[in-house]
Amino acid sequence: MDKKLLFIDCDPGIDDAAALLLAAAAPEAEIIGVSAVAGNVPLEHTLPNALALTAFTHLDAVPVYAGATRPLIGEVLTAAYVHGMDGLRGHTLPPHTRTACPEPAWTALHRAAAAYPGRVTLVAVGPLTSVATAFSLHPDLPGLLKQVVIMGGAAAVPGNASPAAEFNFLADPEAAEAVLRSGARLALCPLDATEKAYLTPEELETMAVLGSPQARFFAQVMGETVPWCRDNYGIHGATLHDPAALLYALHPELFTGKACWAGVETEAQLTRGKLFTDAFSDAKKDPNCTLLYDVDRPAFARTILDLMACY
Ligand code: RIB
Ligand code: CA
Repeated sequence: MDKKLLFIDCDPGIDDAAALLLAAAAPEAEIIGVSAVAGNVPLEHTLPNALALTAFTHLDAVPVYAGATRPLIGEVLTAAYVHGMDGLRGHTLPPHTRTACPEPAWTALHRAAAAYPGRVTLVAVGPLTSVATAFSLHPDLPGLLKQVVIMGGAAAVPGNASPAAEFNFLADPEAAEAVLRSGARLALCPLDATEKAYLTPEELETMAVLGSPQARFFAQVMGETVPWCRDNYGIHGATLHDPAALLYALHPELFTGKACWAGVETEAQLTRGKLFTDAFSDAKKDPNCTLLYDVDRPAFARTILDLMACY
């Protein structure tokens, strides 16, 4: 069976790290590129974290590219309060000798998609600045990609970066809106789905005792978010936002979604970055994405534990 070709744009970030651990473990996936974008923490941390994570997950042959340092418009927004100043909550990874490739993320993404027309799935789990830049510089890119799976937005649930907006979309609303208007084949994995995509403390403990350094790292960094998730999402576990998007790219059957129209507010002050959709409304517009809103959580958890047992 042909492997699924994945290009992962991320802002590691602890849940980005978890997504990379899972992607690297998945036998059905071939990671053809990783790009870092400013988001959870500045690029000066997300890029080194991406390099260290590819070394840690035996992806030493996978090229890593630097993307955008700041949003298309507006001020830089970070989430160090969740991910720590270094992006990995102070957890160190083994030393390595990897360096980033010289070409920027948007050039590399276009080259990869053109090399494998219709076969590359872009998994975008940070602010969409680099993706929007790539689409702007290369108008043929949306049509070259098999699919773009995006972790972002909050449709019918409150935001996590403002009352209205999820972090990735608030960090660069113009980029998110541009990608939603791009004509690419989009799957949107918003908080509506990812808040249901969690591991319980017992499942995290099961992962920790798998014994590999990678499984222990995953369980440790995500386990530290359990109190935050309890206080902010009211769930007894660790929500896995970016792994949910990655898992959809590999196992869409775990999720429930619907074709709908989606857009992002860029003008208003209070609702800037808010994801609007007709998925739950009678006022329908032409669909531009598949919006995910539910997950088979036990199967999601089993799949994650099975993948992490591969290390
Ligand atoms: O809102 C969750 C998203 O914002 C995740 O991608 C997390 O890594 C942060 O970037
Ligand atoms: Ca992220």
